[in-house]
Amino acid sequence: MTQDELKVLVGRAAAEHVLAHLPSDAVLGVGTGSTANCFIDALAPHRARIRATVSSSTATTTRLEAAGFTVIDLNDVESLPIYVDGADEIDADGHMIKGGGGALTREKIVASVAGQFVCIADGSKRVERLGTFPLPVEVVPLARNAVARRLRECGGAPTRRLHKDGSVYVTDNGNEILDVAGLDIVDPRGFEARVNDWPGVVTVGLFARRRADLGLFAVADGVQTVT
Ligand code: 5RP
Repeated sequence: MTQDELKVLVGRAAAEHVLAHLPSDAVLGVGTGSTANCFIDALAPHRARIRATVSSSTATTTRLEAAGFTVIDLNDVESLPIYVDGADEIDADGHMIKGGGGALTREKIVASVAGQFVCIADGSKRVERLGTFPLPVEVVPLARNAVARRLRECGGAPTRRLHKDGSVYVTDNGNEILDVAGLDIVDPRGFEARVNDWPGVVTVGLFARRRADLGLFAVADGVQTVT
């Protein structure tokens, strides 16, 4: 099976999970990325069953609305029983690196409200230790070099995220992203707290304090469920 086929498979499994467990009057949180898109596509035929959704990015909002879902503001929601999103890496404790798609800040905000974080991924995203995938850090543009110096002191090699045409990548929130290679993240919770504390850091793409509660991982012979 190709990686794209695995994403379709896990998107369907996540849609089944939501249809089985989301209360009929509840709002659903939806993440960002190609795997989250497969989930949206799988859930679309059942859109009438989902009262409303909260989105983690402008890209996901566009996709949800095109599929006929109602998208509402997180400020108008008191609870969010389930949030479904992909990851760039996930360890055995449910700690994740996220933000490859640039939506880490809104993803972390929406996830913080959710009762259950369902991480969906193909099996290749599972790792023993986080850090092979460059860690995204969203920064206020003014703080970019100051934060980059601190990341170098931690052993990382930060680069400013650019589009393929060389223009600077700007997040939905008007900030920039540093992608940090070379980190060996032995203490995800501690490192998340440490980087979060630096002036100018908006969000570090470590999701350790709010980790995944349930993992659905597609492999060649089916979808593995990990709690
Ligand atoms: C976006 C994310 C994505 O969930 C992550 O990058 C995984 O993306 P994909 O499903 O395309 O592999 O964190 O900010």
